[in-house]
Amino acid sequence: MALATRAAVVCGLGWWTPPNVVTNDQLAAVLDTSDEWIRSRTGVVHRHVADAGMATSELAVEAGQRALKSADLAAVDALILATSTPDYHCPATAPEVATRLGLDVIAAFDVAAVCSGFVYALANGAGLIAAGIADRVLVIGADVFTSILNPRDRTTRAIFGDGAGAVVLRAGNVHELGALGPFSLGSDGRGANLIMIPDGGSRRPGPGAGRDESDRYFAMNGKAVYRKAVATIVASTTRVLELAEWPVSAVDLLVCHQANQFILEAVASRLDIPMERCLSNIDQVGNTAAASIPLALGYGLECGALRPGHRVVLTAFGGGLTWGATLLRWPELTCVT
Ligand code: UT7
Repeated sequence: MALATRAAVVCGLGWWTPPNVVTNDQLAAVLDTSDEWIRSRTGVVHRHVADAGMATSELAVEAGQRALKSADLAAVDALILATSTPDYHCPATAPEVATRLGLDVIAAFDVAAVCSGFVYALANGAGLIAAGIADRVLVIGADVFTSILNPRDRTTRAIFGDGAGAVVLRAGNVHELGALGPFSLGSDGRGANLIMIPDGGSRRPGPGAGRDESDRYFAMNGKAVYRKAVATIVASTTRVLELAEWPVSAVDLLVCHQANQFILEAVASRLDIPMERCLSNIDQVGNTAAASIPLALGYGLECGALRPGHRVVLTAFGGGLTWGATLLRWPELTCVT
């Protein structure tokens, strides 16, 4: 195939959430919060929470199996796992997921870009295919985000949930349905401190004298992140539309990282995209970090909002700070639940 027309084509989708559902009222029973506060500030109604001991690899395998079945494939050439909650600090989780999926000794690696991880992983997968290094790539976004939350932090516990989603990419043609279009990726390390776990990395390993116990948990400056998220998602989405030469009016479905219902509404409004064309499932799953976009795609298929031929934009923003957007015309896919 000529390299100029070679593209990564989405040919399978799978997703999975742990069965345990935690409502806002259940959180309010153990934290100083309320269903009213959480709904009115975030749009979250409930979230799925992994049982104790259930690791990210377990969720990734569930979603990966379904994606492979949806693509009707038993083998791929590479597996990329986007996560910021790997089973271990070292090694990466992707090789173990590949083994458990029976994918033999393929290339497998993790991508760490927090809530932008899935778009970054898609870009990596598309790059492997474009370079001719792989013909089929399984891209998974999975996080047990609740495992890094401070049990006493009402702000983060109100928002985040656990889940996994995956797509299979295959080598194809830029003109096919499912072909991933251009990418717009970016980062700004000046905002690293807005979303972070201060302790436990190489800068501050282990417990230190005088350190705050809460520093070993995930923390976010919600207000500052909110403002950056809206402006940055609008800019990177606009950029990817320009690269593809799609007018905003051509977008059938905006699939934005599900961080907060009011971020989705602000982004849609600034882009002049009506909310009916902006997918939202945050009420059911909360913010699931790297799993957010593929879980939203699964929801879109199930509820009929996402149909073959639709012009779809995927756009994310998260810790790092990082962001990314890409687009495609949605393919005909077998739905595996
Ligand atoms: O996924 C990566 C990207 N992440 C995001 O984009 C998240 C962006 N940020 C947000 O979604 C919002 O900023 C939050 C949902 C995190 C917070 O909402 P907010 O409206 O910005 O609230 P706030 O942080 O300004 O806090 C307002 C008040 C504070 O109390 P005081 O200081 O005014 O007394 C908080 O302590 O709300 C309090 N608060 C809560 N109250 C009840 C914070 N969390 C809760 C809670 N229940 N769960």
